[in-house]
Amino acid sequence: MEGNRKADLEIVQRLQNNLESCILGKREEIKLLLTALLAGGHVLLEDVPGTGKTVLIKALARSIKGQYRRIQCNPDLLPTDITGVSIYHPKMESFVFRPGPVMTNILLTDEINRATTKTQSALLEAMEEHHVTVDGELYELPEPFLLLATQNPIDFEGTYVLPEAQLDRFMLKFSLGYPDEATEYRMLVSQSKVHPVETLEPVADTEQILALQQKVHDIYLEEEVGKYIVNIVRKTREHPSIFLGASPRSTLALTHAAKAYAFIQGRDFVLPDDVKTLVPPILGHRILLHSEARLEGMTVSSALRSVMEQVKVPVRMQR
Ligand SMILES: Nc1ncnc2c1ncn2[C@@H]1O[C@H](COP(=O)(O)OP(=O)(O)OP(=O)(O)O)[C@@H](O)[C@H]1O
Ligand SMILES: [Mg+2]
Repeated sequence: MEGNRKADLEIVQRLQNNLESCILGKREEIKLLLTALLAGGHVLLEDVPGTGKTVLIKALARSIKGQYRRIQCNPDLLPTDITGVSIYHPKMESFVFRPGPVMTNILLTDEINRATTKTQSALLEAMEEHHVTVDGELYELPEPFLLLATQNPIDFEGTYVLPEAQLDRFMLKFSLGYPDEATEYRMLVSQSKVHPVETLEPVADTEQILALQQKVHDIYLEEEVGKYIVNIVRKTREHPSIFLGASPRSTLALTHAAKAYAFIQGRDFVLPDDVKTLVPPILGHRILLHSEARLEGMTVSSALRSVMEQVKVPVRMQR
């Protein structure tokens, strides 16, 4: 058992090293990405251009021996460009399914908010059910299936804001932000010849990732910590500044992600601190503020901080 645990952590460590060699100074964000990977959750990376979003996802895809596809979204993209199409085959006198890019392990959906609402909704089924329906036929996606999407918050022209239902299907949403001065110089030096992502070697395969995902389910969640999660989510539905609170799906997402976050830190039980760290990237995109609250200067982050202040943290941990 102990030996297995050590081997598991070595895989996590190798993935982390790979990602950190490409995207510098973003250890916490990389941990969030690995949390999503091990919890089997989809990620939305939102940030201004040139902050390393695509490179980070590419680095993860290259680190895992599996299938990787990329969709560059634009308003002309059709749902069947994602799911695939059935084409009539005259010789066989029947329809043959030609799979779309969604039939992959890691799907990078770049600039997702440039796809039309109709095309975005084609992704919904894939994200939630891990299958797509084409001409009434159901096609299972390979496992693991992870959708990593990017969007740019500045450039709103020609974009389609993601509907709430779509946002709720992303387990985590976070941004990378600028590196600090010293890191930015290190980046300049590290990319002076070839980009480190180009020479990255796979350090895990899909079987190993599936096995780690299974083990995350066994991470221990003490009753008090489980209730802490429930209380936080329920408080978002009562808070006077919040118009739309977090869904029961987010309760499950927070629980599952907290277990994965504990796992990647080599712990076999969840601490209240794991939950605290994950509240902004997990609940932030699922709540909406009242317009009066926004006018008064309230932000989603400040509303969540206020929620957290009102929920009692469990103190007595049995382990
Ligand atoms: N923290 C960082 N560490 C290392 N490289 C970085 C960092 N931030 C940005 N870069 C580098 O900046 C370049 C642009 O990154 P990338 O293409 O991933 O940006 P992006 O966020 O996807 O931008 P866009 O929104 O325009 O698609 C890459 O060479 C990437 O390695
Ligand atoms: Mg990009």
